[in-house]
Amino acid sequence: MVSTLQDTDQSLSRLSPSHPMPKVSIVGAGNVGSTLAQRIVEKNLADVVLVDVVPGRPQGIALDLMEAAGLEHHGRKVSGSNHYEPTAESNVVVITAGLPRKPGMSRDDLLQTNARIVQDAARQAIAHSPNALLLVVTNPLDVMTYVAWKVTNLPTHRIMGMAGILDSARFQTFIAQELGLAPKDVQAMVLGSHGELMVPLPRYSTVNGIPIPELMDEATIQRLVERTRNGGAEVVELLKTGGAYYAPASSICLMVETILLNQPRLLPIAAYLQGEYGLNDLFLGVPTRLGAGGVDRVLELRLSEAELAALTQSAQAVRANIDRAMILL
Ligand code: NAI
Ligand code: 2OP
Repeated sequence: MVSTLQDTDQSLSRLSPSHPMPKVSIVGAGNVGSTLAQRIVEKNLADVVLVDVVPGRPQGIALDLMEAAGLEHHGRKVSGSNHYEPTAESNVVVITAGLPRKPGMSRDDLLQTNARIVQDAARQAIAHSPNALLLVVTNPLDVMTYVAWKVTNLPTHRIMGMAGILDSARFQTFIAQELGLAPKDVQAMVLGSHGELMVPLPRYSTVNGIPIPELMDEATIQRLVERTRNGGAEVVELLKTGGAYYAPASSICLMVETILLNQPRLLPIAAYLQGEYGLNDLFLGVPTRLGAGGVDRVLELRLSEAELAALTQSAQAVRANIDRAMILL
């Protein structure tokens, strides 16, 4: 079943007269933000503006990336700033500003500090780019997307959170490794919140169309599901000084590419729900149609009783944290 959220506003695929190239602004020039900037320019997708509170950091990353332009054969411009003026008229704004996890921390432990950062970043970015699509990455992801929506009041199809693509990519990798196959032959689907209560869907995860329950036993599937749920923490435990950023940057870049090239994709994205899956007034990872104008559809899969119960539990945890975050705003 497919439900239509809103008519898609295709105007974002049009370019502004004062900026004839697509423009993506990334707030937060840390590990995720700077790697995303690299991915975007090396794929020649857009000019990039990096914004960060640390003086010199976004400027330094921008300069470093520009100095590789001749070697990487890209013609895109990267600039850095500690202010939002250079972000004006962006087609897409990505918010990666905020604290990452340290070992032993959950994503929810970041709520208070990151809610304040995201609130400020979203307001300022959209004030300068009122027609942009807003992609939220900062954790706790589902709650921060809601915070950004509340303070900007953007139409819900123009604001979304990135997590399901990353969680699905991890599940995809682990399935491929288990079966000794190339990851590109595996399609995986993970819904729900970006946290311990995420909902990997083995029935909807396939190897070239063959559902994985046909290819491995239940104990193996459960082991891979648990590793996926723990995917972010596994990297944090190894790195000790921060979280993952290569796979996250690739995941956001896929969304940016889908939007800018107007090549609609069916992707798991934290989208605003208005009754789909029996859930209301929150952002949660669900299968969506993403195109040039944003998330124009939420797809309602036929879930089993257990899958729906897991999604509902995931939503309840997000709702509790939204209530905590709203007190802070
Ligand atoms: P990082 O610490 O490397 O970078 C964060 C950057 O934000 C820093 O450069 C910092 O100076 C900047 N910043 C802090 N306050 C700011 C403000 N008010 N305005 C502008 N910039 C500000 O962290 P990293 O690894 O890049 O992660 C960033 C966020 O993304 C974290 O919250 C992390 O948990 C989250 N994340 C989410 C993922 C997802 O799947 N949704 C995946 C990976 C990371
Ligand atoms: C991850 O899953 C930290 O949320 C981030 O890697």
